Amino acid sequence: MRDASEPDDRFVGLFEVAEMAGVGRTVVANWRRRDQRFPAPVVNLRSGPVFRTGPIRRYLKRRNTPMAHVISTINLKGGVGKTTTTAGLAEFLSGEFGKRVLVIDLDPQTNLTTVLIGEKKWEDLNDDGYTLATLFRDALLPEGESPSFDLEKTLQRNVSSVDAVSKVDLLPSSLDLIDVQDRLASMPSGRYYSNNPTELLRRAVRKIIDNYDYVLVDCPPNLGIVTLNGLRISHGYIIPTIPDVLSTYGIPQIQRRVRDFADSLGETINEIGIIVTKYKANSTVHRNTVRELEDDEKLPVVLSTFIPEKNDIAGSADFVGRATLRQKYGYQGGFDAFHAMTEEFIELVEESA
Ligand SMILES: Nc1ncnc2c1ncn2[C@@H]1O[C@H](COP(=O)(O)OP(=O)(O)O)[C@@H](O)[C@H]1O
Ligand SMILES: [Mg+2]
Repeated sequence: MRDASEPDDRFVGLFEVAEMAGVGRTVVANWRRRDQRFPAPVVNLRSGPVFRTGPIRRYLKRRNTPMAHVISTINLKGGVGKTTTTAGLAEFLSGEFGKRVLVIDLDPQTNLTTVLIGEKKWEDLNDDGYTLATLFRDALLPEGESPSFDLEKTLQRNVSSVDAVSKVDLLPSSLDLIDVQDRLASMPSGRYYSNNPTELLRRAVRKIIDNYDYVLVDCPPNLGIVTLNGLRISHGYIIPTIPDVLSTYGIPQIQRRVRDFADSLGETINEIGIIVTKYKANSTVHRNTVRELEDDEKLPVVLSTFIPEKNDIAGSADFVGRATLRQKYGYQGGFDAFHAMTEEFIELVEESA
């Protein structure tokens, strides 16, 4: 093979990279767009980018390790089951489907964080500055001051109070994110843009992200800078919603804004689907709204599994030790719904990749 005989310090273009990899040039173009590990070019000529063979060869080796699927959870309305859905997906992906999962909690409400590690642990971490608020706060430091975000200490390994869940890690949130987000948004434009404020999370996690099969990002209920940081690393997003008028109202706006943001990056962020939450089969409003969502072809696909409204699911927010997911999510349909929903989620995500 040609690549084996090439020294590491030769210069190559996309055509040669494709040859080295034994794939077509469109495939290489896709890697460049989608895979954050793709080496940066040494220079961009008018004929295209130029790379060194060494980094390219190392990259091609690493490509054999599969990439994480990074999926954001978004809804502009609170109380629609966003956190419950994300926590359930994380726990089922790990406990029932054997996936390695990283949860990134960007919502200042910190609910997902306390579901996964409990109130007490969160307070300790927050006191020590081991939350994502520190990452964003670092971006606000005056020139010359050294950043204090510590990924190693912030990353919480093997979280969840359910014994059957073994491979969920967490980057915790903080209430302080509200304040940080406001300050990021009002930074004088020169410095703020030179810092590239939507790249902060990406830079912080790029080294660990491919240790996981799935990365789930719980975004705040707005499309501010913190949410954009979540979208920046995402290949797709889901929209959990209660099937009523108020909760579904903002969906087209989310679609439009995410599409605009993805376009501005030259990337694709896939619409994975709408997840119906707190479903009441005996409610006419719920049944009608679901039908309208399903019939509207401009909206993302509606997952066929609905999460029913159940006391056990409401109780799943408490950080209480349990042996199995069945015990946590309940025998009255809660467990089965989350299991089926997660299975569908995996299919849709893998299909879109
Ligand atoms: N399927 C469900 N059945 C019963 N209660 C639920 C269900 N899903 C969520 N809840 C409850 O509804 C409230 C809002 O849910 P949450 O997931 O925190 O929403 P969000 O993150 O969108 O604000 C919480 O008290 C949660 O426990
Ligand atoms: Mg929430």
